Amino acid sequence: MAIAVGSRIPDVEVRTMGEGGPEAVRTGAVLGTGRVVLFGVPGAFTPGCSKVHLPGYVENVGALQSKGVDVVACIAVNDAWVMDAWGDAQGATGKIVMLADGNAEFARAMGLDTDMGAFGLGVRTKRYAALIEDGIVKELDVEEGGGVDVSACKTMLAHL
Ligand code: BEZ
Repeated sequence: MAIAVGSRIPDVEVRTMGEGGPEAVRTGAVLGTGRVVLFGVPGAFTPGCSKVHLPGYVENVGALQSKGVDVVACIAVNDAWVMDAWGDAQGATGKIVMLADGNAEFARAMGLDTDMGAFGLGVRTKRYAALIEDGIVKELDVEEGGGVDVSACKTMLAHL
């Protein structure tokens, strides 16, 4: 079951790309302070994530910030090299914190893991967007179909 609105986000280890390579960071540290928008995607470089989901957030980072958002973060069950390369390719570097949940620990802790073995992808995260304020989930929108709708940046902007 997905994490309930009103709950504290899980504090687990994920990775991000540092100067010298992947660095372990705690989700509680990265996502636990201020007004944070987090979106989860099934896979870096996949069509829906690359053509629609991530670009929508890259284009609208300024609009999110003007509504008081301190941090915009993207998380996927991929490794830190892939997340970094994807962020660079999409113009997200420096705008969006790219988090690598390689072991799907955060996805599981959020109750948002999904078995995509049928697509050859193994366990991934469902596609979603969350508004987190000082570590508490205030809004959680999980896609039930195959599209990018309730988790799109324009939908999140309407919530703010
Ligand atoms: C997509 O974003 O298009 C996608 C994600 C996971 C599996 C297949 C496609």
